[in-house]
Amino acid sequence: MSREEFPTDRPAVVTCGLPYANGDLHIGHLRGYIGADAFDRALEALGQQSAYVCGSDMHGTPVAVNAEREGVDPETFALRWHERYEETFPEFGVDFDNYGHTHDATNVETTVEIVRTLEEEGHVYEREIQVAYDPDADQYLPDRYVVGTCPYCGAHARGDECDEGCQRHLEPGEIEEPRSSITDNPAEYRERSHRFFRVSAFEEFLTEFLDGLEGTSNARNQPRQWIEDGLQDWCITRDMDWGIDYPGDDDLVLYVWVDAPIEYISSTKQYSEGADEYDWEEVWTGDGEIVHVIGRDIIQHHTIFWPAMLEGVGYNTPRAVAATGFITIDGKGLSTSRNRAIWAREYLDEGFHPDLLRYYLTTTGGLQQDVDFTWTAFQEKVNGELVGTVGNFLYRSLLFAHRNYGGTPDAELTPEVRARIEDATEAFHEAVNDYSLRGVGRAAVRLAQFGNEYIQRNEPWKLTDDEPETAARVIRDCVQIAKAVGILIYPIAPEKAQRLWEQLGEEGTVADAVVEDALGAPARSFGEPGELFEKIEDDRVEELEAKLEAKIEAAANDAEPAGEDETGTDAETESDESGPDEATGMTDTDGLEPLREERISFDDFQELDVRVGRIEAAEGVDGADDLARLEVDVGFETRQVVAGIKRLHDLEELPGEKCILLANMEPAELFGVESNGMILAAGEEADLLTTHGDAEVGEKVR
Ligand code: 2FM
Ligand code: ZN
Repeated sequence: MSREEFPTDRPAVVTCGLPYANGDLHIGHLRGYIGADAFDRALEALGQQSAYVCGSDMHGTPVAVNAEREGVDPETFALRWHERYEETFPEFGVDFDNYGHTHDATNVETTVEIVRTLEEEGHVYEREIQVAYDPDADQYLPDRYVVGTCPYCGAHARGDECDEGCQRHLEPGEIEEPRSSITDNPAEYRERSHRFFRVSAFEEFLTEFLDGLEGTSNARNQPRQWIEDGLQDWCITRDMDWGIDYPGDDDLVLYVWVDAPIEYISSTKQYSEGADEYDWEEVWTGDGEIVHVIGRDIIQHHTIFWPAMLEGVGYNTPRAVAATGFITIDGKGLSTSRNRAIWAREYLDEGFHPDLLRYYLTTTGGLQQDVDFTWTAFQEKVNGELVGTVGNFLYRSLLFAHRNYGGTPDAELTPEVRARIEDATEAFHEAVNDYSLRGVGRAAVRLAQFGNEYIQRNEPWKLTDDEPETAARVIRDCVQIAKAVGILIYPIAPEKAQRLWEQLGEEGTVADAVVEDALGAPARSFGEPGELFEKIEDDRVEELEAKLEAKIEAAANDAEPAGEDETGTDAETESDESGPDEATGMTDTDGLEPLREERISFDDFQELDVRVGRIEAAEGVDGADDLARLEVDVGFETRQVVAGIKRLHDLEELPGEKCILLANMEPAELFGVESNGMILAAGEEADLLTTHGDAEVGEKVR
């Protein structure tokens, strides 16, 4: 079932995963908050009514464990971080319409009401289970209080999540070789009575729900597999003091993952209270558009438990779940305990404008791809795209317009330029409907690129004396392009776009503009423009790279004895973005396939005809969620190859890329498409192997 495109005439809500109120924010966190903010702004630019809501996740062991370590009660501890986040988000232009927290009265009431309804509807039952217990600490060991081995993939895991491996949610009692993260003792088991949500009864609903779900393909594909493997009922209570009491049973609190997503509703309610024209019920109990932006480690919560809960109480269910990849730093997993992170505050303290990071994080790679951050890559992107293309076009055009005409010359818009602006707004519209922030950014940057070509091609500076009308027309065109660029780049770089808006002498704010305004007449007069973006110099980057390296080294030297890290009680800001960091770390081989014992001869190796190739074309294979059909130039001929990379790579970006191909792989047919070779890739994200020097296409890999 395909949905009506955005904009619709129903209100939308955009959310992002709630940050645990337990530690500093870093760029891994910011990717999601900025991404969802940009998406919300882009929806509004299309004319969609939309609210962007979120809140701090105050409960659960991620907060309790860290509070305990600081010797503070969890409420005081979490509120302190909550207040910090309220200050930090706006500094990055993350402009929530409402930012609440899960411990506030609205959320407690809403949660209790929803859980009661689930009970009344027969979706909750009580069952005796074995719960991990630490006799020395004399306490039960829910979730992060217990660590061990994931029963599904064998990775080191926490009590409720396989954070270093397959990312699955683990039920109490599932973890193997459980140890207390408080004392490192092997956990004992004690029988306790807990409440379970009958998720297994929602199989049919969830299967259909996933078929209609928009967003990123990883948010549909992984849960389909989990459903196929068989849904388990979900334990929704915990033996803890900190949390929302289970209605009618003060001995237990609700599992944090029950009240956390309910904050999406509570926060919308709070927004609705102060906004006459926005009705939370239309969204949550009617047929509004619910869009969740999350990290890919919490797909299961948002595509299985959460929609089942919503369905169970008769609420509306999400239209889209967009699950982002992780952030790596210099190619390695982000790790807060190893200080391999760029902290939000640190970035700002370096004096960089937030919109530069917003641009980098939203337009580097597709939403579901991992994004590597290096200061060098950041510099390249800023200097190349923002300074070189966008800034350069805007400054040269507006300066010329101001100096020669005091603003916009009186001339008609050229049809070619009108058509290009229309194309750009259409590309923007499509990108929003594809949940592609990179596409949104690209629509703006490509238009600016066209602007540069256009002014260069027409050379108005040579025409002002002899052909003043032509010169005026060219500049009028350029001002129009500049206005359109401002509107299109606004979701990604809102503060810079507003400055441009002011430079253009436009009234009001760019936030109030919609894409149709891109073709509206520009203001007649405006002053001398300033440069919107500043080049980042090489020595600055060298200094930043050195600083990063030094702080990682310092953290390694200060490292606590291994025990602490390994028991999982380490400061938990490694939430959504850093899940796999320990697994991709240099020394940690948990979750990796062991090295093979048996050896092969050199002759055996020579049997493999491995070649350097260049991808000429890439497209999805119809009917297959994961498969892509590639045409690979291998020097002597072009091979058709089918590879399982469709949801892991942006196929549009692949043509031109070099790859490594096993050329004498026996042919195979996949979904009716013949595959004549195998491109080599590593890791869960199918990182494509390539060459880094001048090896030519067709060359043998030896
Ligand atoms: O994984 C996390 O960081 C959680 N705090 C996200 C919660 S999102 C939502 F559903 F509540
Ligand atoms: Zn696992």
